[in-house]
Amino acid sequence: MDLKYQTGFGNEFATEAVAGALPIGRNSPQKAPLGLYAEQLSGTAFTVPRSGNKRTWTYRIRPSVTHKPFVPFAGADTSAPSLFRSSPFDEVVATPNQLRWDPLPVPDEPTDFVEGITSIAGNGDLFTQAGIAVHIYRCNRGMGNRYFYNADGEMLIVPELGRIGILTELGAMQVGPGEIAVLPRGVRFKVELADGEARGYICENYGAQFRLPDLGPIGANGLANPRDFETPVAWYEDKDETCEIVQKFGGNLWSCESDHSPLDVVAWHGNYAPYKYDLRRFNTIGSISFDHPDPSIFTVLTSPSGEAGVANCDFAIFPDRWLVGEDTFRPPWYHRNTMSEYMGLIYGQYDAKEEGFLPGGGSLHNQMSAHGPDLDAFEKASNAELKPQKLAGTMAFMFESRYIIRPTRFAMECPELQPDYHAVWQGLKKNFQQ
Ligand SMILES: [Fe+2]
Repeated sequence: MDLKYQTGFGNEFATEAVAGALPIGRNSPQKAPLGLYAEQLSGTAFTVPRSGNKRTWTYRIRPSVTHKPFVPFAGADTSAPSLFRSSPFDEVVATPNQLRWDPLPVPDEPTDFVEGITSIAGNGDLFTQAGIAVHIYRCNRGMGNRYFYNADGEMLIVPELGRIGILTELGAMQVGPGEIAVLPRGVRFKVELADGEARGYICENYGAQFRLPDLGPIGANGLANPRDFETPVAWYEDKDETCEIVQKFGGNLWSCESDHSPLDVVAWHGNYAPYKYDLRRFNTIGSISFDHPDPSIFTVLTSPSGEAGVANCDFAIFPDRWLVGEDTFRPPWYHRNTMSEYMGLIYGQYDAKEEGFLPGGGSLHNQMSAHGPDLDAFEKASNAELKPQKLAGTMAFMFESRYIIRPTRFAMECPELQPDYHAVWQGLKKNFQQ
């Protein structure tokens, strides 16, 4: 498949896989071209102001409604138990302790993307459209004739191991470690594997859709630039075979049968569409004098809440960058935060934790939980010669939320939870001298 993309963030795109499939001048003519059906996918309420209004018109072989009734999804053809959880995240009491996990293994038994989603933590309430869920996906087979969509929220996918092909009703894209993909709420897709197995992180966002942060005094350029976001061009399957459509709705997984592929959109136009972004294109901005700014300077995408400047979720990254600050403690400082922070590592080493925080693993520092560099990182950074230093070959990220991120029972009971995480700070000794 020849993958082609249109560039820009949230632009009004127009694309057709067959010449003449896209009507000109009308969204829903009496008869759509080529015998197609016209169908609108609304990503916001009809009446949202124009600057934030999201919708896409699709021209498809059959309307989406041609499917059998949904029944609970049992994952019947797999031995992998479903560990996919949803709000409310109240399986266990939320602990104030700092938590860290080793990477979860890719399963041995055949597992596709949907079967292989394991929920780590979450917050908020999907029924009131607030909060996020943090999942890990780990799979070793493609979805074949199974398709998925999430009615509860959009999905920000952060691959850590293996490239995945994401074939959506609005086009196909491929992402690998160092890239992200965002699947808007409701868009149907399936995941195929380019490298035999795959693992990564998902932020399921129940709240306001991710958008680019405002730049304030930074000006018109910097951080993630709109031109680096890529949305696929129209692509379709004309496949009359028995297919399964799985959806997440109201916190549960549901399954139905369709006699054709739901990825049958031949042309579309609109601004509600999946996109991908290469995190290595992020224009990192930092201090060139002393100290360093708050990590919000690394925000790629933000999902605002109702309160100005307080995010339902910020997606921030810690990529390759130069450190040049003078008389400065360069790693992240010791810190307590009203916001809650889930971190993952895509590749390389994180400068505040050179050991124990592994690619595919994660850490959780919840609301007002103290955290910061471990003993080794503190000693090194306090005594290092402060010449310009390049942090290279590293990519960590953070999902930061205004709501306490509550772990699942699985996350609190799995063997990958590190029982001695607190020990990394215990050697920090008293240096005070009067
Ligand atoms: Fe922090």
